Amino acid sequence: MQIDVLTIFPGMFNAVLGESIIKNAQKKGLVKINIIDLRPFSKDKHGKVDDKPFGGGPGMVMNPEPFFEAVNYIRRKTKDRRWKTRVVLLTPKGATFNQKLAREISKYEHMILICGHYEGIDERVREHLVDKEISIGDYVLTGGEIPAMAVIDSVTRLLPGVLGNKDSVVGESFSENLLSHPQYTRPADYKGTKVPEVLLSGDHDKIKDWRKKQSLKTTKKKRPDLIKRRSS
Ligand code: ADE
Repeated sequence: MQIDVLTIFPGMFNAVLGESIIKNAQKKGLVKINIIDLRPFSKDKHGKVDDKPFGGGPGMVMNPEPFFEAVNYIRRKTKDRRWKTRVVLLTPKGATFNQKLAREISKYEHMILICGHYEGIDERVREHLVDKEISIGDYVLTGGEIPAMAVIDSVTRLLPGVLGNKDSVVGESFSENLLSHPQYTRPADYKGTKVPEVLLSGDHDKIKDWRKKQSLKTTKKKRPDLIKRRSS
């Protein structure tokens, strides 16, 4: 999968993309991530990418041109003749991101993530360039960079070969609209607090059964909305 990110703050991505599982996924060639500075696509001689809103009001609005120019440049460079590229805008107005959406996006061949700022982006970008709008929750951040990183992280770990054990994504939280069961590791007795006996029994059917029950119990208690979604 190829992911291109359009941002005015490319430096924000270094730490997240340069560590751990996402770093290894790139090294192994399972995902190619390009962080692209939007400013060089501005026609303004100072690289300005925003302006005052027509009709007045507070703050600044991001100009349409740099986004159109940058997306065209990426499409030309990747020879996107079959129009396989999906353009995704990170915005609080988008559909709320969840595991189902992460799974859907992990099937894309190529995606361009657009990070907005200030009071927003000129509406023509959304109308004519964007295929999908995503929000990471009902709160407002200073820009789309952190949401873009959350999307990249959750999508990359679903790509085949990224996680060592392919069962890692089976049975994890949200995989069947359930939260995951509790996990324990050594020591079996930590200062008197003991690991549930069943996990030490070696009886795999019993363990499976216990874990499913725990998942249901935790989900019912903490996220009853997920249980409702399972039955509807
Ligand atoms: N930009 C600012 N806040 C956001 C959010 N919650 N989700 C996606 N993009 C955003």
